[in-house]
Amino acid sequence: GMSVKKICCIGAGYVGGPTCSVIAYKCPELQVTVVDVNPQRIAQWNSDELPIFEPSLDEVVKSCRGRNLFFSTDVDQAILEAELIFISVNTPTKNYGLGKGRAADLKFVESCARRIAEIAKSSKIVVEKSTVPVKAAESITNILKANVKPGIKYQVLSNPEFLAEGTAIGDLLNPDRVLIGGEQTSEGQEAVSALGWVYQHWVPREKIITMNTWSSELSKLAANAFLAQRISSINAMSAICEVTGADVSEVAHAIGTDSRIGNKFLKASIGFGGSCFQKDVLNLVYLCECLNLPEVAAYWQKVVDINDYQRRRFSNQIIQRLFNTVTSKTIAILGFAFKKDTGDTRESSAIYICQHLLEEGAHINIYDPKVKKEQILKDLSSRPEIFDSPDRLNELVTICPDAYTAAADSHALVICTEWDEFANLDYKKIYSHMLKPAFVFDGRLILDHNSLLDLGFHVEVIGKRLTRDISRVVRTPAAGST
Ligand code: NAD
Ligand code: UDX
Repeated sequence: GMSVKKICCIGAGYVGGPTCSVIAYKCPELQVTVVDVNPQRIAQWNSDELPIFEPSLDEVVKSCRGRNLFFSTDVDQAILEAELIFISVNTPTKNYGLGKGRAADLKFVESCARRIAEIAKSSKIVVEKSTVPVKAAESITNILKANVKPGIKYQVLSNPEFLAEGTAIGDLLNPDRVLIGGEQTSEGQEAVSALGWVYQHWVPREKIITMNTWSSELSKLAANAFLAQRISSINAMSAICEVTGADVSEVAHAIGTDSRIGNKFLKASIGFGGSCFQKDVLNLVYLCECLNLPEVAAYWQKVVDINDYQRRRFSNQIIQRLFNTVTSKTIAILGFAFKKDTGDTRESSAIYICQHLLEEGAHINIYDPKVKKEQILKDLSSRPEIFDSPDRLNELVTICPDAYTAAADSHALVICTEWDEFANLDYKKIYSHMLKPAFVFDGRLILDHNSLLDLGFHVEVIGKRLTRDISRVVRTPAAGST
């Protein structure tokens, strides 16, 4: 069989970086080299400020970097030396040509396959770590085999990644399962065992699931589609709650105690964000269309449609409650990342909500503990048509150093990300510096709504009606206590 001593990972992103850091950490006898075509990214991986924020990532990287973990731009050298190569490059939604707006763009994956075929002087196990449509491994195999040199053999495996951002290190150290798909031949099964052996350094054997390549590829899309569907389902319920007086948190609790449903991933929100859910559901939709399964495609498309609806519904609610106009009003946005404990903003619902408000001519003050100013401005300018002049963005948007600065002199406070620190702010102080009537829109259900009402705020939350009783709104804290 093939013994693995050196591992190469192509793509030093949110997946390649943390995944290979944990492999190096848990397998001290293996040499792991993570390569990327982006020299800034590699320089950051080699510096004190890593390119991504993940709890505990610093410690893991520092404990093995320079020992058996290396970050490099020398893609060819790393390919030459490794017996096992992860392809962990981005597979974004195509924004051009056939399948535009839905299909996954596989050009980066393909270029890795071509590079490997060109460079390799020995046999390799090539592991598809990127999320891809079903049958992508077959395309990689075809490219490798069409360019193969004598004496070299390739085995292509599917090994999708299930980590979530913000909890990546914990997810990698203690995964629910590791999935490995391979060819149902003896060579294929040998390669599956070789990769399984790497994970067995820390993952219990029974959690390493093996299956055929296509099942493995489809399982990744299926897992993300099911997770995204749960969020769209609870968000659809939240809309019913807001018009009936039901409370979505109570509904989630009631259904979550059914062991068949389970209580996780039932938090109503301003819609899911992140680089994966929308992209992967659309990838699945496009796959179904290509397979001539239009009913199945339409079914999954609705998961994305409800998500867009939820974002728009929330923005509209803000505008409506602020007396149907936000033009020239100041709105404080707390949180810009797509979830807490990450600095990632890809597909963050906050981007869409801010853009909806900017379209109405609102001024927005934004604070996020981990997202850099440049990133926020770049994200907001993704729709240049909103701004009638280039200066307009800077005129309307202020990036603030903390929540208090953001809230000062604003008409409304909007929670977009569930950062823990937002639950512990001094809301009395915030209220005193806001314009009146002062509004809070809790898009993440993380605040103590009754104490906000007692302070005098108008409070609006996803999936629950709160400020019905006008006597309660005008009541001062002193008058309220007996
Ligand atoms: P990313 O954009 O953070 O990183 C990808 C990296 O690959 C970039 O740094 C890019 O420069 C590099 N790259 C692209 N083409 C290259 C090439 N030819 N040679 C060398 N480097 C190249 O992406 P990511 O978030 O790490 O996602 C990677 C894959 O993993 C995607 O398919 C994604 O769907 C999947 N995935 C992501 C997550 C997540 O939470 N982000 C979770 C599970 C799966
Ligand atoms: C997801 C999958 O969870 C992970 O397994 C896969 O590998 C990559 O995609 P990620 O996007 O990093 O991970 O984070 P996740 O925790 O799934 O959250 C995605 C979005 O859904 C966030 O915007 C989050 O706020 C939102 N969400 C999550 C809800 O709105 N409600 C919930 O109950 C859970």
